[in-house]
Amino acid sequence: MKLASTLLTILADGHFHSGTELGQVTGRTRSAIWKAIHSLQAMNIDIYSVRGKGYRLTEPVELLDQDRILFGLDEHARSNLTQLDVFFEVDSTNAHLLEIARQGNASGIVCLAELQNSGRGRRGRTWVSPFGGNLYLSLLWRFSSGAAQIAGLSLAVAVAVSRALREVGLGAAGVKWPNDIVISGRKLAGILLEMAGEASGPCSVVMGVGLNMRGDSTMASIDQPWTDLGTELGKSVGRNDLASRLINYMMDAVVKFERDGLPPFLDEWREMDVFDGKDVELHLPGKQIRGIARGVDETGALLLAQAGEVRRYQSGEVSLRAITG
Ligand code: BTN
Repeated sequence: MKLASTLLTILADGHFHSGTELGQVTGRTRSAIWKAIHSLQAMNIDIYSVRGKGYRLTEPVELLDQDRILFGLDEHARSNLTQLDVFFEVDSTNAHLLEIARQGNASGIVCLAELQNSGRGRRGRTWVSPFGGNLYLSLLWRFSSGAAQIAGLSLAVAVAVSRALREVGLGAAGVKWPNDIVISGRKLAGILLEMAGEASGPCSVVMGVGLNMRGDSTMASIDQPWTDLGTELGKSVGRNDLASRLINYMMDAVVKFERDGLPPFLDEWREMDVFDGKDVELHLPGKQIRGIARGVDETGALLLAQAGEVRRYQSGEVSLRAITG
């Protein structure tokens, strides 16, 4: 994989590079280059070749760069960050950090990858994670309190993500309970919290954010409406810059959440709530419930009005869909 990722750093400019040039720069034979290019193409990376010209990516890509991400961090994030892992390919940035969490008491670790081959979504779904366009970012944090105190954290993370998006010019993002970031009914970003540790003692939480920045053909398989940041803003945003901003806001959010819980985030979350007052359907394992969405309570649980009574539903394996028609 080392040769393949080195080739990508050369091809990232979107220009043609001949096999001979790539061989000279990397010190490898043309046939080794050819094989490595094929392995990249097998990962659905859009590299094409033209006889006499060489290889190029269909579009230039701003590759993730650890130094640039570190440079964009504010003082607070820098002092809370203990490790920054930037991979070319990983199974899942969440899985990587959960493994670290299981080995000890680590906290403040961030992991990013250019592509995930087993990206995970909520409710056991796959998170389609192609190379080059999007962000796949996870943060591991160890909370001294037990799992019960973590309720609502995913809403605080959604607020953090929306703050970072606002900074790059996207003011229109909404939130679909508990933590999908949406624009006009299309999903822009998803958040997956996974926990390691005991239910009562200190627990480690991995907060993973998948943010569509530039969709590609492999994302056609996604079974729900989605959008990407480039489309919404009509311009491209630097991936390293946005990664730094996400880390800044997520670090800020976890520290505040650990101290004060969900209340400091609630007003902002409620302002972005796209389902408030709407006729909705809540899907629970084995059943679906219809009602009027009435926002969330102080713990982040969904409030649903059904037959004159308001019931609360906690975050977990539930999803919410607007009823159409
Ligand atoms: C959702 O289904 O809405 C949650 C998607 C979360 C995807 C992100 S991408 C980074 C991190 N690593 C994963 O495997 N999943 C999360």
